[in-house]
Amino acid sequence: MLETLHSKADAAFATTARGGLHHDHRRSVSLTRRQSILFVTSEIADYIKAGGLGEVSAALPRALRSHYDVRILIPGYRQVLSQIGAIEEIAQLPPSFGIPACGLGRGMTKDGLTVYVLLCPELYDRDGSPYVDSLGVDWSDNDIRFARLGLAAADIACGKGDPLWRADLLHLNDWPSGLAAAYLTWRGQHVPTILTIHNLAYQGIFARDRLPALGIPDAAFHINGVEFHGKMSFLKAGIFYASHITTVSSTYAREITQPEHGCGLDGLLRTRAWQGRLDGIINGIDQSWDPSKDPNLVSRFSAENCRGKRANADNVRKNFGLALSSGPLFAVVSRLVHQKGVDLAISAAETIVSQGGQIAVIGQGEPRFETELRALAQRHPGSVGVKIGYDEGDARRTYAGSDFLLMPSRFEPCGLSQMYAQRFGSLPIAHRTGGLADTIEDGVNGFLFGEPCLLRFMDAIKRGLETFRSRPRLTAMRRAAMNRPHGWDRSASKYKEVYERACRTAAYA
Ligand code: ADP
Ligand code: GLC
Repeated sequence: MLETLHSKADAAFATTARGGLHHDHRRSVSLTRRQSILFVTSEIADYIKAGGLGEVSAALPRALRSHYDVRILIPGYRQVLSQIGAIEEIAQLPPSFGIPACGLGRGMTKDGLTVYVLLCPELYDRDGSPYVDSLGVDWSDNDIRFARLGLAAADIACGKGDPLWRADLLHLNDWPSGLAAAYLTWRGQHVPTILTIHNLAYQGIFARDRLPALGIPDAAFHINGVEFHGKMSFLKAGIFYASHITTVSSTYAREITQPEHGCGLDGLLRTRAWQGRLDGIINGIDQSWDPSKDPNLVSRFSAENCRGKRANADNVRKNFGLALSSGPLFAVVSRLVHQKGVDLAISAAETIVSQGGQIAVIGQGEPRFETELRALAQRHPGSVGVKIGYDEGDARRTYAGSDFLLMPSRFEPCGLSQMYAQRFGSLPIAHRTGGLADTIEDGVNGFLFGEPCLLRFMDAIKRGLETFRSRPRLTAMRRAAMNRPHGWDRSASKYKEVYERACRTAAYA
């Protein structure tokens, strides 16, 4: 997809390249200097994460470090300030319309990655997640909190942040940083911007009357702008104004250009794809996901020697209050939301248990799913164990101890859980959608089913159970799953291509 979608931009580049000296000079500037990338994110696993975005934000900049001067920009949440260590305040960013002034701090991760932190206690210094309070309700000032993030990113790109550094390119992620691309455009600044969509379903939609407070010009409240069904959308702003859009798998990149998965933005995304400005780049997983080294496991193992999985399975059974058994162990490690098909997993549970299987669930999310899962465990003591909560050690142990991971997501932009499961020798049983379709080969390193309905899901589970009964086949599939290429290198080089194309396009705009 990457190669084909960009033929127009590259052709334009090649034509100009034949133009002579003027071009060659610009080209040498962009290719010889180590370029500066500002990676703008609302979560990073080093300090705070709500899902896969936090993990990608920690891994991708590190994978790109050897090529670029990559720095992170993140709001100064309580969890960031308490963990990052020394922060030097390097600038004051002025207020703008209803967006308050804030300090810009510079800190560093333990391994030396520069992190710019927005110092604005009134917006960020509170308990809870980046997006919601402890009751799961969106922070009522989310528009201002993330407009502040977008505006700061634009300031840094224009040289108004760190007096010693400015960004050649902004890499924005999801709706919280979407407005950065718009602010740059409204200021007439041509800094290239890449927006990565990790999940189109979360759009950052706010009422029209918030426009003045956010410094959004009236003229931008338009179908060709930030307007979305009479409201304004931060994500649409990002998609509309960014130089280039990526999303986290090739299949999802295609799916979001269709009404079924386009969340009302499929028309604009179709246009971007047609313009060669939409790519799918699959996520990788980081090196800490290695069952031969992971200190969280009671026994280590590898693709060559999987015997250690047995001790991990016994440990999961103990941990989740399951009976001792040599039968198949299924896992669910997930946010408990509609997207993830939790209801399908709950419906499949009765059959799995009746066939001698056991299920360990770790997750948190919508209260109705938490309640239903607790009730399921009560109905099947010793066969279904449920932990409501978030614990990475438990998640790792569960991948390591299970035989199968249930992942019947209705849509899945990329999905990391299935890749972690594969790496730990647990075969994912997943809906053929988004990144699941791109990372799982049916019958080789996992099982895929076509329609997100119980009937098709159960067919795939039955194929899993048959495989479980044939040891040589199970071992071969486990080995294939564990050996599947999973690192960040290939994805990082694709991002590099996109960055370079965006810089070239901006240079000739
Ligand atoms: P999403 O970001 O949509 O939730 P991903 O599959 O990309 O989905 O990433 C989910 C990440 O969150 C994985 O690393 C998974 O292991 C982790 N995770 C999900 N639920 C839990 C939980 N309850 N405890 C620990 N880790 C979890
Ligand atoms: C989102 C998506 C998930 C993806 C993650 C990281 O949370 O739901 O599929 O893996 O972002 O890109």
